[in-house]
Amino acid sequence: MESTRAKIVLVDDNMSSLTQGRNILKAFYEVYPVPSVTKLFEILENVIPDLILLDVEMPETNGYEAIKKLKADDRFAKIPVIFLTSRGDDNSHLEGLDLGATDYISKPFSAPLLLKRIANQLLIVRQHKDLLADRGNDSDKMVKERTMEILRLQNAVFAAVADLMEFRDHQTSGHTRRIRLYLKTLLAELVRTGTYKKEIADWEMDFFLSSSQLHDVGKIAISDQILNKPGKLTPEEFEKMKNHVAIGVDAIEKIMLDAEEHVFLRHALAIVGTHHEKWDGTGYPTGFKGLSIPLEGRLMAIADVYDALISERPYKPAWSHEDACRIIEAGAGTHFDAVLVDVFKNVEAEFAKIAREIVP
Ligand code: C2E
Ligand code: SIN
Ligand code: SIN
Ligand code: SIN
Ligand code: FE
Repeated sequence: MESTRAKIVLVDDNMSSLTQGRNILKAFYEVYPVPSVTKLFEILENVIPDLILLDVEMPETNGYEAIKKLKADDRFAKIPVIFLTSRGDDNSHLEGLDLGATDYISKPFSAPLLLKRIANQLLIVRQHKDLLADRGNDSDKMVKERTMEILRLQNAVFAAVADLMEFRDHQTSGHTRRIRLYLKTLLAELVRTGTYKKEIADWEMDFFLSSSQLHDVGKIAISDQILNKPGKLTPEEFEKMKNHVAIGVDAIEKIMLDAEEHVFLRHALAIVGTHHEKWDGTGYPTGFKGLSIPLEGRLMAIADVYDALISERPYKPAWSHEDACRIIEAGAGTHFDAVLVDVFKNVEAEFAKIAREIVP
């Protein structure tokens, strides 16, 4: 596989050395033989090699001058340089190493020795790169790019599913968009006030917001007769309606089984699974109490109920913003996390604004 072979530039003014070196290396590497330092810098404009083999004694520019120029240029400073020298004296080797050469090789070449030392050098560089990548920089950037890619994918899939849900539900895309903005508003206020700082420290906010679109995904499996019933549900019908949580959790868990990056789906699982839990333990499906309800679910409960309250449903009229606030405040400590109700109170005007701007 040509493209994965290491690239080596061989610089030597002596044609027989150049040919000999190229013949030894070409079976293992992509070799670029050049006869002068001028040609070396020409080729560097197009190829960044993994290694430079640099003859020390050349007319015009010699190896020492060449390596100084290489080390002074950010683009080339990190390319390892091995000096090729016919002088056996330690002083010239030392001088080369002082200037930043990583090794030297004596001419005429011994083929096995040349290959061995090059292989060692390339191995050291690769190990060093792996180490750096593990520590951050390159790896951070790659993880970020990969995360953005997954986010885009998740968002596209979740948005498509949310669109499909509209065919079943009386709810419109306005509901989905408003909920996302309520949550964004609550989160911003949490961050501003330092509330639940530890809990949200490791959150992937965009994944959380994107996941909110799916909170009622399980409603897809609820019969139309119950879902769009114009009046109050019977207790039996309400039991069936409650299944939308378990059905949604099943769907998310199925995705998680196959997804390598299932860590990003933890927010979706928590939102879908716990948005109907109540602070006092009377919610469903599990009856989690207080802080044992994931923060995602506690936040979603406020956003979801606020929007249900201000919206007209087949089973209820639309309440005013003031009534909705009263109902939510009355639920502090019973239905809702009282700390989050306080946070909600700080930003309720923004909720009203969102509701005004995104009408069904
Ligand atoms: P939804 O309509 O999106 O309502 C979400 C949650 O908002 C409800 O969860 C409830 O906690 C709150 N909520 C909605 N309307 C009111 C209200 O008028 N007063 C108060 N205090 N809270 C309200 P819940 O009760 O678990 O219901 C879950 C879903 O079940 C509802 O989602 C809705 O789709 C359905 N549902 C609940 N009750 C009825 C009903 O009487 N008739 C019909 N057709 N569907 C209902
Ligand atoms: C937003 O603007 O709603 C947050 C960004 C995102 O979730 O992609
Ligand atoms: C409804 O039945 O109107 C929703 C549930 C509630 O009022 O708490
Ligand atoms: C569930 O309610 O089954 C799971 C929800 C969660 O673990 O966050
Ligand atoms: Fe729900």
